[in-house]
Amino acid sequence: MVDVILGLQWGDEGKGKIVDFLAPNYDIIARFQGGPNAGHSLEFDGHKVVLNTIPSGIFQSHCINIIGNGVVIDPILLRKEIEKITPICADIKKRLLISKKAHLILPSHRTMDAASEAAKGALKIGSTLRGITPTYQDKTGRNGLRIGDIFTPGFTEKYKSQTARHTETILALKFDFDNTELEKEWFAAIEFIKQFTCIDSEYYINQALREGKKILAEGAQGSMLDIDFGTYPFVTSSNTLTSGVCTGLGVAPKHIGEVYGIFKAYCTRVGSGPFPTELDNDMGELLRQKGHEFGATTGRPRRTGWIDLPQLNYTIMLNGVTQLVMTKADVLNGFNEIFACEAYEINGSNTTEVPYDLCDVEITPVLNKIEGWSQQGLELPPALDSYIHYLETKLSTPIKIVSLGPDRKATLFR
Ligand code: GDP
Ligand code: IMO
Ligand code: MG
Repeated sequence: MVDVILGLQWGDEGKGKIVDFLAPNYDIIARFQGGPNAGHSLEFDGHKVVLNTIPSGIFQSHCINIIGNGVVIDPILLRKEIEKITPICADIKKRLLISKKAHLILPSHRTMDAASEAAKGALKIGSTLRGITPTYQDKTGRNGLRIGDIFTPGFTEKYKSQTARHTETILALKFDFDNTELEKEWFAAIEFIKQFTCIDSEYYINQALREGKKILAEGAQGSMLDIDFGTYPFVTSSNTLTSGVCTGLGVAPKHIGEVYGIFKAYCTRVGSGPFPTELDNDMGELLRQKGHEFGATTGRPRRTGWIDLPQLNYTIMLNGVTQLVMTKADVLNGFNEIFACEAYEINGSNTTEVPYDLCDVEITPVLNKIEGWSQQGLELPPALDSYIHYLETKLSTPIKIVSLGPDRKATLFR
C-alpha cells in the first residue's frame, strides 16, 4: 500500500518531522509534487536539517527515497542539499532515486517567477521565488525539460531554445537580469546529478508494491495551497492533495492506504491570500514568537491565527483523511484560553463551508473559547486531552499522533 502524509492547512504543519518519525515503518519514502518551495525541518540526535527536495526519510538508513515525476527539481538547489547532508547521511547515492519524468527548474524559470511577481505589485502571490509556477507552466504547456533529457545528445540545444523563449517574456516585463553565473552553476549541477540513479519511478514503485513493500508518499505545501481547491489564485501550481499522489508517482487509486492529515494546534500561512482566523494583533505576535513561525525556506515571518474547523473539515473531505496528526500543541502551553473557529459569518449568516469567493468576501470567524493548559514534558494534561477530544468530535476523525516539540523524540502515539 501507499500511505500518504500531507498538510491540511497552508503548509509548514510539521510534515518533515512526522515523516522522519514514521519512516522506520516504511521501505520507501517518495515526494510526489512541489519542489524547493518546500522547507521540511527535521531535528534528531542534535542535528537540525531543512530539506527542500529530498524526501524526509533520507536519515533512516534502510529507506529508499524517491523524488517522483510530479516534483520539479532545481539542480543547483538539489546539489547543495545533497552536499549539505552527505556528512550525516549514510549511503545517499544508493538510497536517493530520481524520476526521469521530473521536470527541471531552469535559471530563467527563477527569473520569470521574480519578474511576474514584480509585475503584479500589490497583488503578488508572495511566491517563494523558486521558479515553481513557470516550471509547471512549461510542463502543462508541453515545453518542459525533464531529468531524463539530461542524458540525451540534444539537451544543450533544448536548454537554449527554452531560455530564448523565456528571455522574450522576461524582457517584455521590463525586468533586468543576468543569469551568466547561475547558468554555469546549473550545468555543473546537471553533471553532479548524473552520478545519481535516475529511474522510471512508476515501474520501480509498482514493482515494490507487488513485492509487498511499504511506501509513504510525502506531501509538500498544504491542501489550502492546492491549485484546484486552495485559496485561488493565492496557491501553488501543483495538486497537493491525495489525488496528486496518483499522478505524481504513477500509482493507481486502489493502492492508496492510510491518509495521515497533519495540522497545527493553531494555524499559519506565509505569503499573500485570505486567512479567515488571522490574528493581526499581540496574540498573533505571541504565537509567532512562541512557535518560531518564520519560513524554513525564505525566513519570512508567518502569519498566525486560531485553528479553523470549517477549513480543516474541507481538506479532510478532499483528501479522504483516515487519521490526524496534531503538531505544535506545546506552543499553546501556558495560555489561559485559546479559540477555535467553528463557522464563518458572512453577510449576517453562518456557514461551515469554505466559500467559493473566500478571497473577496468579508468573513467574521465564529469562535469557541477553550480552556488553556499547562503541560510539562511529554504528557497530555486534562485540558489538552479535552481539546483533542473536542477536535476529534468536530472533525469526525481520530487524532492518532500528537507532536509536542520539534525533536523526533517529542512525539506521542494515542
Ligand atoms: P513542514 O514544511 O510541514 O515540514 O514544516 P516546517 O518544517 O516548515 O515548519 C514546522 C516548524 O515547526 C519547524 O521549525 C519544526 O522544527 C517545528 N515543529 C514541528 N513539530 C513541532 C512541534 O510539535 N512543536 C514545536 N514547538 N515545533 C515543531
Ligand atoms: P512546505 O512544504 C508554506 C506558499 C508561498 C506562496 C504560495 C505560492 O514547507 O509546507 P510558490 O513558490 O509555490 O509559487 O508560492 O505558496 N508556499 C508555501 N507556504 N509552506 C510551503 O511548503 C510552501 N510552498 C509554497 O509562500 O504564498
Ligand atoms: Mg515548510
